[in-house]
Amino acid sequence: MESKTILITGVSRGLGHGLALACVERGDTVLGLGRSAATDLEAQSNFHFAQADVAEAEACATALDTLLSERARLDGVILNAGILGPIADMRDQSVDTMKNVLEVNLWANKTLLDLLLARDLTIGQVVGISSGAAVNGNRGWGGYSLSKAALNMLIKLYAKEREDIHFSALAPGLVDTNMQDQIRAMPDDAPFPSVAQLKQATGTDAMPDSTIAGQRVLAALDRLPGLIESGEFADIRKPPLTD
Ligand SMILES: NC(=O)c1ccc[n+]([C@@H]2O[C@H](COP(=O)([O-])OP(=O)(O)OC[C@H]3O[C@@H](n4cnc5c(N)ncnc54)[C@H](OP(=O)(O)O)[C@@H]3O)[C@@H](O)[C@H]2O)c1
Repeated sequence: MESKTILITGVSRGLGHGLALACVERGDTVLGLGRSAATDLEAQSNFHFAQADVAEAEACATALDTLLSERARLDGVILNAGILGPIADMRDQSVDTMKNVLEVNLWANKTLLDLLLARDLTIGQVVGISSGAAVNGNRGWGGYSLSKAALNMLIKLYAKEREDIHFSALAPGLVDTNMQDQIRAMPDDAPFPSVAQLKQATGTDAMPDSTIAGQRVLAALDRLPGLIESGEFADIRKPPLTD
């Protein structure tokens, strides 16, 4: 396979780290953008990192200048950086708390896309890392669900404007990361049924570690342009990705 150049946000740990590792190992050039890097990735000659909080537009612009420099093509953009926010009932989550989650999971991605699309750059594929929470509406997932549902629509809207790029939103399935640690820290008697389900999935094939998940998600990303229309949402656990 021809080697690609792929920009990934949030590569310090978790799924973004697993994705970056999978790309680097198959010979792609990875451009990582986030608040911190990871030493194993930084040791690789085909990994480049620029520091930025994705919620800070000016820092992102500077980081993209550094990473993209004279580059004319990005084969892939993976908008992965994200936060969970509190798991709590809607009435217990303030608007400000939810705004903070949307700042990172939604608006930061709009800023990054605007910065990228304004450049003289050919882009092959843009993937927003979404979640089953975008469509499930499970109790307690308030700000996170809203952010991922809106991310799905953000991707759909950009797809209408840029027909030369394949856009998709992908739910990566469960991945054993810090985000799951946060969920596992919830008390067993919490009134949120999906917390217990996620605790039960820990250690099973339904919740791989971030290295295995990175490989699986990368394989799914490669197939998405041939499987779904630009702008659509797909879940790695469901057709057409399981067909
Ligand atoms: N884990 C799951 O089961 C699961 C399921 C569905 C969807 N997802 C999605 O998968 C993506 C990755 O999540 P994860 O589980 O890997 O979480 P994670 O282990 O908490 O990692 C999140 C990554 O995002 C980065 N990040 C967070 N806020 C940032 C900011 N303001 N600026 C720059 N980078 C920031 C973190 O970097 P720092 O080192 O700077 O904090 C870290 O690299 C998220 O979009 C999440 O919604 C995860």
